[in-house]
Amino acid sequence: MKISYSNLIKDFRFLVIAILTLFATSCQATTPPITIKRLGGDQSMIYVEKEKKYLLLPVEEAMPEARVDMIVDNQLVSGMNVRLAREKVDYFVPVELTGINPKSLVFQIKHIPDTAICWRTIDLSDEFDTTNREKFRPVYHFAPLYGWMNDPNGMVYKDGIYHLFYQYNPYGSMWGNMHWGHATSQDLTSWQHQPVAIAPDALGAIFSGSCVVDKDNTAGFGKDAIVALYTSAADRQTQSLAYSVDNGASFVKYDGNPILTSPKPDFRDPKVIWHEPTKQWVMILAVGQEMQFFSSFNLKEWTYESSFGEGQGAHGGVWECPDLIELPIEGTDKKKWVLLCNLNPGGPFGGSATQYFVGTFDGKEFVNQSPTLTKWMDWGKDHYATVTWSNAPDNRHIAIAWMSNWQYANDVPTKQFRSANSVPRDLSLYMQDGECYIKNQPSDELKALRAESSKKRSFKVSRDYNIDNIIGSDAGTYEIEMTVNNKDAEFIGFKLFNALGEEVDVCYNLIEKNLSMDRTKSGEVSFSKEFPAVTLAPIQPGTEMTLRIFVDKSSIEIFGDDGRYVMTNLVFPTEPYNRMSFYAKGGSYNVNSLQMHKLELKNTTH
Ligand code: FRU
Repeated sequence: MKISYSNLIKDFRFLVIAILTLFATSCQATTPPITIKRLGGDQSMIYVEKEKKYLLLPVEEAMPEARVDMIVDNQLVSGMNVRLAREKVDYFVPVELTGINPKSLVFQIKHIPDTAICWRTIDLSDEFDTTNREKFRPVYHFAPLYGWMNDPNGMVYKDGIYHLFYQYNPYGSMWGNMHWGHATSQDLTSWQHQPVAIAPDALGAIFSGSCVVDKDNTAGFGKDAIVALYTSAADRQTQSLAYSVDNGASFVKYDGNPILTSPKPDFRDPKVIWHEPTKQWVMILAVGQEMQFFSSFNLKEWTYESSFGEGQGAHGGVWECPDLIELPIEGTDKKKWVLLCNLNPGGPFGGSATQYFVGTFDGKEFVNQSPTLTKWMDWGKDHYATVTWSNAPDNRHIAIAWMSNWQYANDVPTKQFRSANSVPRDLSLYMQDGECYIKNQPSDELKALRAESSKKRSFKVSRDYNIDNIIGSDAGTYEIEMTVNNKDAEFIGFKLFNALGEEVDVCYNLIEKNLSMDRTKSGEVSFSKEFPAVTLAPIQPGTEMTLRIFVDKSSIEIFGDDGRYVMTNLVFPTEPYNRMSFYAKGGSYNVNSLQMHKLELKNTTH
């Protein structure tokens, strides 16, 4: 073969050029997508060169909050407080970058030293993994996919869909950066996570509030618009409005915000209802330790009407998250107005709880019929910020509560998400000794969760009686229904427990007339000294008593005597409680019926 030197040189040149081009392109491909510049004084800038879906921020919960401002084309578009990791990364939170098409994208970060680990771990990604990593994530209670949740708020039903909005921090699993998170459901048990509904703005964070369906277009945003009223929380708290004309898919903030101001520092959580007799909107606001009533014809202009609270009920802390509903009294054709009033601290077992008042309301003023009584809605430690769905079908009044307590909500042993809601409950009133009380019944939809059931023959308990395997207990999600007939016992009790000796003790004390739940040995309890506790509900013991008990991965809700007394408590067992043992003291009793249902979420989306 004849070798041409000139050709060889040409080929060699070609090869060199090819290699250089390849090298240049590969260099381009590895150009750092983010550049971090230190500005001194614990301030830094992150230049984002390349657009991906998310900027992933590393969080270390034990650290103080850093300020992260997002600047798009020289404009501040959002700011958040993030516990950026300094020594170790607990988890990442995503800042959404989709939809922004910037010429320049810069994050300005304050209060983070140059040595912090976050500078080596901040990343850009097209993925944010929300696969569950938590053993305590509930199965049939709503919890956010990631991040922090407190109050359920703004709940509204429209066209077959239950909308649940909630106090949400997408930038960490502790309280802060309040947004309205959003989820929807057709059956009150399986929830579809939706994008954030309302995000903070220059007027402040988005605190709790409510939604109404404006059927007569009183506000002028359109017939059947969903109108959200919420608190804009900055140095002061003011009330703002946003509306949705696409069934809650997106909200537009009203350009006349804020619509209601006050010199009072605690001025929040607007609940708005339509008062048919006076054909006007009524807003109830929590103001320090009272509730204030306002009226309006168009949802935008509000007139002060009255205040309620002085000398009424419990005042161990601030009043928050009001609701006003007209409930039927069972067995009669009468109705009464009920004012729900969440209180923190000052609950019966410390911290947060829901009290209520029963009385009359004429569109201007609420009058409590029993001013000397304090009435509690739930006798556990983890039932707060209870409010009801607006516009619920079939005249239902469906309530849901945040299943936590401000005493330890930020410390419960989960990281990927924090907090869940109670199961939904249908409310009505019943009379006892001339007084009107709320009955909380688990919403009927919960029966659809029953996947497998077992029924025991009736048995007598004079010392103890064991059930070795609760159906559904391998997953830790079950319901127990039972009817107990007392003979002469002074204490009727049972324990739910696991092989590690972790247990929850539930007991009727027929001498003191109460039902107790003891979670002092329930599993992980040491994260807060306020957590190990025994909670008590007063009862009116008859010879027959019924209980429905809902157990999920980290909660127990007990409904006694058809919802006449309820107790909601968090528990964090290392393994599910899979056994049950009944005991009696001072006499014996019969368990006339005992049914166990394994609970499963069928249309699972979370
Ligand atoms: C109740 C509450 C509300 C407030 C919200 C802030 O838990 O304190 O009063 O709107 O939480 O997240």
